[in-house]
Amino acid sequence: MKARLDAGETMESIFPVKVYRQRLHALGMQARLVGGTGRGSVLEVGCGGSLVLHEAAKLGLRCHGVDMNPEMLEYGRTLKAAYGSDVEFSQDDAFALPFADRSFDIVFSVGMLEQYSPEDQLRLVRECKRVANRFVYIEVPNEDEDAGIHHLIKDHEDSHLPTDLRALAIEAGLTDLELDGRAVFCSRAGTEKNSESYQQFVRAGYPHLMKDMTAADIDTFLAAERTTTQAQRLKYGCIHYVVGRSR
Ligand SMILES: C[S@@+](CC[C@H](N)C(=O)[O-])C[C@H]1O[C@@H](n2cnc3c(N)ncnc32)[C@H](O)[C@@H]1O
Repeated sequence: MKARLDAGETMESIFPVKVYRQRLHALGMQARLVGGTGRGSVLEVGCGGSLVLHEAAKLGLRCHGVDMNPEMLEYGRTLKAAYGSDVEFSQDDAFALPFADRSFDIVFSVGMLEQYSPEDQLRLVRECKRVANRFVYIEVPNEDEDAGIHHLIKDHEDSHLPTDLRALAIEAGLTDLELDGRAVFCSRAGTEKNSESYQQFVRAGYPHLMKDMTAADIDTFLAAERTTTQAQRLKYGCIHYVVGRSR
């Protein structure tokens, strides 16, 4: 990701698919809270680029992001200015969040858990659950070899994938679990996912993919996403996630 937006640039003009995906994510959160009236609070743990938070803030949710990396927080503040959002940030450790129990309606974490051992993953989800009043949402890359992201992550020595999200959520005490996958739309329409050209395409990386995407492509992906079954999303989606009730 770029560290700064240049004059005249918006996140949407640089990363249309990423913004679109994050917007879907934010809309899903809004829908979970009080029937979509827009009230509620959200905490992202390991917020990094923090795009979801800015999209959620635009929907009227009170948003806070924590990250231990000051550079990521600085980037979040750049986006805050670009979006004109009122997201709050703090530099904190996900293992010891400085919030009282049940401080936020939704606590979510995307792309962080897989960096930690199974024991630490459980500690992290429990800490998310502690500060969540209603829902915890955890998302990790999908390691299925049919998934769009598989070729990017399969040789990662540092990661602790695959993560059994269902077992983890149950052990952490979450209930009413929903498992699903997302980002089938992150590949071009009509692409054969097992072809050599697709694999080269994925290896080339997502910035390239995102730069080439047009608004019309996004509409195509949206239509595809709507007609995809849960089983297909879990198999082909770039990520998979679990949402559970915190009590
Ligand atoms: C792959 S990035 C994901 C960023 C963001 N959630 C997103 O979806 O774009 C993971 C982030 O987790 C943060 N992180 C990792 N371990 C952490 C910890 N113990 N406490 C707080 N942040 C942490 C990293 O600094 C990084 O910004």
